[in-house]
This record gives sequence, C-alpha cells and structure tokens, in this order.
Amino acid sequence: MNFILESLQVLVLCLWYNFESFVRLFIPAKRKNVAGEVVLISGAGRGIGRLMAQEFASLGAVLVLWDIDQEGMKETSRLAQERGAPRVYHYLCDCSDKAEVYSTADQTYKAFLPAMIANNHGHLVTIASSAGLIGVNGLADYCASKFAAVGFAESVGLELLATGKDGIKTTIVCPYFINTGMFDGCQTKWPTLLPVLEPEYVAKKIVQAILTDQVYLLMPRGMYFCAALKNLLPMKQSILLGQYLGAFNVMDSFRGHTKKLQ
Ligand SMILES: NC(=O)c1ccc[n+]([C@@H]2O[C@H](COP(=O)([O-])OP(=O)(O)OC[C@H]3O[C@@H](n4cnc5c(N)ncnc54)[C@H](O)[C@@H]3O)[C@@H](O)[C@H]2O)c1
Repeated sequence: MNFILESLQVLVLCLWYNFESFVRLFIPAKRKNVAGEVVLISGAGRGIGRLMAQEFASLGAVLVLWDIDQEGMKETSRLAQERGAPRVYHYLCDCSDKAEVYSTADQTYKAFLPAMIANNHGHLVTIASSAGLIGVNGLADYCASKFAAVGFAESVGLELLATGKDGIKTTIVCPYFINTGMFDGCQTKWPTLLPVLEPEYVAKKIVQAILTDQVYLLMPRGMYFCAALKNLLPMKQSILLGQYLGAFNVMDSFRGHTKKLQ
C-alpha cells in the first residue's frame, strides 16, 4: 500500500475510533458473562481483593483466592459463598518475590498464559496505581514496582494483540489513594479534585472495566487529565502543578495499616 492510501486509511480509522469512543459515553459496552469462569485473585484476604471476590461471586464466577493472610482469606471465602459463588478455593500463597514486584507478575503470567493462549481466552488484570504513571515524592520503591507493572502489562497486552490472540484481554488499573488502610494517614490536598476513593466504588469500577474489556482504568477521572498533562507541559509547569496538587507532601503523615499484616 502506498503512503497516501495508508495515511488516508489511518485517518479514517482514527475518526471512526473517536466517534466510537464518543458513542460509548452514552451507550455502555456490552458486559461479558463470567458465570462459571475461573477468577484468580491475589491479595484476596482484605481490601480491594476481597471486594472484587464478592463482586465476582455475585456474577457466578468460580473463585481462586491467594493471600498470605489465612484468616482474611477464610473470611473472604465465607463472604463470597454468601454472595453466591458456586465454588471458592483459597490458598496460602506469598506472591512477593525477592526481586521486584513485576517479577511476581511475570511468573504468574508465565504460569497461566500458555493455557490462555492455547484457548485464545482469558483476561489479565493488573492492579497498578496512579503511582505507576506519575512519580511521587517519598514513594520511590512503590512507584518503581507500579511503573514496572504497568509497562509489563502493557507490553504483554501488545504481544498478545500482535500474535493475533485477541481473545485474551488486558485491564490495567491505576487508582489514586483508596480508603483501605494501606495508605492511612496520607493527605489529599484538594479532595474535590483528587478524592480518596472508597473501596466499594473502586472494586465495582474494576469489575465493570473487566466485564467491558476496558484496557485502562484511571480513578478518579481527574487522573486521565493529570497523566496526559505530565507529558505535555514544560517540566517547570508540571512541578508547579504537582506542588499545587500536593504531590510533594502527600506522604508526610503516612501511617499505613495500623493492624499489621501477617
Ligand atoms: N489502597 C490504596 O490507596 C491503593 C492505591 C492504588 C493502588 N493500590 C493497589 O491496590 C492493590 C490492593 O490494595 P489494597 O488497598 O486492597 O491493599 P490491602 O492492604 O487492603 O490488601 C492487600 C492484601 O494483599 C495481601 N498481601 C500482601 N502481601 C502479599 C503477598 N506477598 N502475597 C500474597 N498476598 C499478599 C494482604 O494480606 C492483603 O490481604 C495493591 O496492589 C495496591 O498497591 C492501592
């Protein structure tokens, strides 16, 4: 295909995809059925993992729960059964690795991807963070692992697309602070602009994104704007806006979980 023809084709498709996204604002995408599907959730002993387990339970999914907190998992399992999960399995499993967090994802994907590829069916969900898109003062180690998780998930998603495995979907979740206790004590300077998110809201949005094959989910909505501006604005202006949004002092009063994780 020559340059003019190919460029024209891309232009028309760009317009079409923009129109499609605009229509999607008013007519939500069809939700897929996950009844009977196996949903594996790591970190299911509390917080977002537990809430997602409950959401998927009510949709009839078979649940496999992983966590280092046996008691927490038992409770999640009980709650999931109460919500109608046909089967729930839970395993004491330490998902951390001596190296970076992304290598855990790497190993998990290596374990499950071959079967997904063979069936051209599945969905990879990465719970990253807005700290995986924008660096945060005082969170260098966390940001490093979350940037890695985003890069890894994005690349695996593209590899699958490039090899024609379009039956395997990817969802990358980047929330701002969530009120689960993990970031207890952290302050948000302008709560109207960047509110601390409620866990139930986050879990519902994640499940909705998975069911509609949404690739990126940033929360709150203002994060889409912040992430785009970061790469567009002059550096000095980005820093000024970061300061204005409180990014420099966000960790000053960090306490984290008051109840120590086992
Ligand atoms: N809470 C927030 O503000 C926030 C914001 C953005 C992203 N996130 C991300 O969302 C995810 C869930 O966060 P949350 O707030 O629900 O956390 P949480 O602390 O409430 O729950 C985390 C769960 O993971 C389990 N866990 C911890 N280490 C583990 C290990 N090595 N192996 C297996 N299980 C382990 C814990 O036992 C716990 O049940 C995390 O990946 C977190 O980084 C959280």
